[in-house]
Amino acid sequence: MKCKKCGGKASVNMRQHRMALCKEHFIEWIPEQTERFIKKYNMFTREEKVLVAVSGGKDSLALWDILTRLGYKADGLYLGLGIDGGVNYSDESHRLTAEFAEKNGLTLHTVNIEKEYGYSIPVLSDISYRGHGKPCSVCGLAKRHEMNRIARDLGYDVLATGHNLDDEAAVLFGNTLQWSSDYLLRQRPVLPEKDGLARKVKPLCRFYEREMTAYSIARGIEYIYDECPFADGATQVFYKETLNQLENTRPGIKLTFYLRFLDARQSGNLFIEKDAVQAHIHPCAKCGQPTSAPDLCSFCRMIEKANTTTG
Ligand code: AMP
Ligand code: FES
Ligand code: ZN
Ligand code: ZN
Repeated sequence: MKCKKCGGKASVNMRQHRMALCKEHFIEWIPEQTERFIKKYNMFTREEKVLVAVSGGKDSLALWDILTRLGYKADGLYLGLGIDGGVNYSDESHRLTAEFAEKNGLTLHTVNIEKEYGYSIPVLSDISYRGHGKPCSVCGLAKRHEMNRIARDLGYDVLATGHNLDDEAAVLFGNTLQWSSDYLLRQRPVLPEKDGLARKVKPLCRFYEREMTAYSIARGIEYIYDECPFADGATQVFYKETLNQLENTRPGIKLTFYLRFLDARQSGNLFIEKDAVQAHIHPCAKCGQPTSAPDLCSFCRMIEKANTTTG
């Protein structure tokens, strides 16, 4: 297989694009494409301040690397979740994120949920669900709440996450299987700023996961290989595997599935009626973030409940 650009030996073959590239041209192609997506979806400009949510995994570190190479003003945010799993998952992912920041002379903000609120994610989940179930939903709620709070408090224009095509296609697959119209309507590469919520963008949403792995390795980025210890057996993982099986026989199907969905929603052709009754949104009495709940937002309610339970 030969590189499409120089004819040298190809190291990455992208069957969905019928294109193979050598290492040098691949690590140039990825930022060029990212720049194209940032412009196409009006994500942000070079004048705006970007906060990249960095988990220590390949996608978010690659994103930080790409935005920096492209000359965007991008700082990092690491959230300490207090997740243990053999090797201490949270400590290790923080170490790799901090090392990346230092090596590249970048600014990293670190916020530890336990220090901030008194509970790690697994403990908070145990209290909320009385020891039953995985902490993933509590974790998701806390991450969204904290990312938004910090982006707003520190005056960033936009919050960027490392979601890739495999992530987005798996979420889309799940939402389509359930016909969850609310979620389908909300799934976009850019969520504009609204009611005190920061603008959220996913600049890597059109790259396959294997492309991000190849990019991180080619760039010599050290990232945490392990998945979160709670991810095992999660529905999302099953959806990803199912889509990969389809992709093996029909290269490009994952990308088409996602892009046709974006096209359909853009042109108003999704068979989903917008909910006529918009929920009444107002600021949470404690943290000021928008909520449709009567008093406190769901994150603050969870913390209050934990405080009363543990007395
Ligand atoms: P996940 O929900 O783990 O698939 O992660 C999706 C995206 O959320 C990542 O690409 C990161 O941008 C962000 N993210 C996940 N975990 C963290 C964390 N502990 N700190 C900061 N950002 C995170
Ligand atoms: Fe949050 Fe796994 S439960 S990253
Ligand atoms: Zn080449
Ligand atoms: Zn709140």
